[in-house]
Amino acid sequence: MSIAFSPVSIGSLTLKNRIVLPPMQQYQGSTDGFATEYHQHHYARRARGGVGLVIIESTAVAPEGRLMTDDIGLFSEAHVAPLAAVAAAVRAENVPVFVQLSHGGRKSVPHGGGVLLAPSRIAYDDCYGLPEAMSAEAIAVAIEAFGTGARRAVAAGFDGVELHAAHGYLLHQFLSPLSNRREDGYGGSPERRWRLLAEVIGAVRAAVGPAVPVTIRVSASDHAAGGLEPEVVAEALQALVPLGLDAVHVSSGGLLPAPPPETGPGYQVRYAEAIRRKMKVPVIAVGQIRTREQVEDILVQGRADLVAIGRPLLIYPDLSRVL
Ligand SMILES: Cc1cc2nc3c(=O)[nH]c(=O)nc-3n(C[C@H](O)[C@H](O)[C@H](O)COP(=O)(O)O)c2cc1C
Repeated sequence: MSIAFSPVSIGSLTLKNRIVLPPMQQYQGSTDGFATEYHQHHYARRARGGVGLVIIESTAVAPEGRLMTDDIGLFSEAHVAPLAAVAAAVRAENVPVFVQLSHGGRKSVPHGGGVLLAPSRIAYDDCYGLPEAMSAEAIAVAIEAFGTGARRAVAAGFDGVELHAAHGYLLHQFLSPLSNRREDGYGGSPERRWRLLAEVIGAVRAAVGPAVPVTIRVSASDHAAGGLEPEVVAEALQALVPLGLDAVHVSSGGLLPAPPPETGPGYQVRYAEAIRRKMKVPVIAVGQIRTREQVEDILVQGRADLVAIGRPLLIYPDLSRVL
């Protein structure tokens, strides 16, 4: 009896199995960030391959927050129709589909030459360059952009949204003391560093209503002294559940250019486990999870409630070929 292929619920939504296609940029958006027919075929094919949930790649909520020049976005009403075609193509395979909403902050390639925004004036590296520390107004605009993006996602027919608070992008930049040196209401203490994410969840929940699943992806560790650690992240995440958080997708790293100190099979599962111990909502583990046995072990041992399998499903869309 396989636990991987047993149903699981995220908020009000029940999935047929516990295998997730995690968000993976396809670098196939139009210059203006519109999804294309490529995305319809790509995601529908992976839905047909047997996963229980498809999460569409990082989708920018603001033009200055696009992670790459060929990323997709939801930063205007005109972006809704092409993404609606992607959502419909996945749903036609009877698989629910979420979209990952993102803002790159200091790790953005601003569309149309906009400014690079971040909690503090600290560069990621010389390539991205020095960002501007966000004013209170700029923070309010970013919160609204996530809310508007979520409203558009639901209008496009997505079943849920995942907020990208991992991999060193804007929301993560606010969470980590290494990138957030603010001394106002959004920095200076753990509570204040997590305030932006709380307000974004509030805005998103208000935009989508009570029934639509809202999840977040976090980096549970910055792999650096003084950075985020899983225990601290787990504590802070608990406080977000009453605001309408339905699941947590646990990754790591990305805040700093240095690669993680160790990788290997399931190297991030211990982070998912640390967070799951404290959480009342489902936890998704990801990162070099590759075999059926590994998946069953993670789930049977209660280290996570779902697992995501990324790169193998880019190569072989059928789950039966991968696990
Ligand atoms: C081509 C590519 C694009 C990715 N894009 C995203 C993304 O848009 N958002 C995100 O949170 N993670 C992204 N990731 C990370 C994956 O979601 C996943 O966490 C990672 O590949 C580890 O899982 P795996 O070992 O099963 O591939 C990307 C990874 C790859 C390989």
